[in-house]
Amino acid sequence: MKAHLIRQKFSTFFIKHDHKKISSSPLIPQNDPTLLFANAGMNQFKDYFTGMALAKNKRAVTIQKCVRAGGKHNDLENVGFTARHHTFFEMLGNFSFGDYFKKEAIHMAWEFLTKELAIDKNKLLITVHESDDEARDIWHNQEGVPLNRIFKMGDKDNFWEMGEFGPCGPCTEIFYDHGEKYSDGNYDPNFPLKDEGRFVEIWNLVFMQFEKTSEGIKKLPKPSVDTGAGLERLTAAMQGVYWNYDTDLFQGIIKEIEKISQKSYGDKK
Ligand code: GLY
Repeated sequence: MKAHLIRQKFSTFFIKHDHKKISSSPLIPQNDPTLLFANAGMNQFKDYFTGMALAKNKRAVTIQKCVRAGGKHNDLENVGFTARHHTFFEMLGNFSFGDYFKKEAIHMAWEFLTKELAIDKNKLLITVHESDDEARDIWHNQEGVPLNRIFKMGDKDNFWEMGEFGPCGPCTEIFYDHGEKYSDGNYDPNFPLKDEGRFVEIWNLVFMQFEKTSEGIKKLPKPSVDTGAGLERLTAAMQGVYWNYDTDLFQGIIKEIEKISQKSYGDKK
């Protein structure tokens, strides 16, 4: 499936579920001195989460241009070394501003991935925050994910913050299994996700409930949802390739560079 169709399917699916399509914000955040570049889809909605502004529509869907080359979410050291990190990328996101919460967010994510995109359920693994039995129960009882495919993780992996300050909350992530061939040698049957080569995070649902300020952490006026799903990673999974660079998002550019440089992709010299 071509990347443009994944973008289209994502928007159409969430519009069908009453989300308002909003354009990506510019890469340079407007009126936000806490960020140099947009690092996630939720940035432009920060004031809706904190209650500083009222959202006209309580549900939104976006495809956000992001840069993660500095600050809290700095991927720079990984770029070129892993199959899945970029400085610039596109993030798919559906958002609830005090509207739906865990049950609906998990249901829509699962339905989109396993029905709309028809990804094999057996290739997906789930993580939840170690304190979030509710999310674990929803994955298991509502969506039928076996408990041995749901893993509890601590704050380092499953508590998402926009930056030093801003909205934050525990999250649940969906990982895609690219198969044994891509193992980095750390596979452990009790905790497969240790194998960061084989398993790639493709979807992050943040259950926004707090705000970090210079005075400390406080509760948000209403629990909300912020999704971050990397288009390039999802496209790699859908196109049966491991490196994001092997998807149609990059191959057109790479082919042109091959022509201009007279070198072939993969040529080490
Ligand atoms: N805002 C959620 C994420 O970037 O993963």
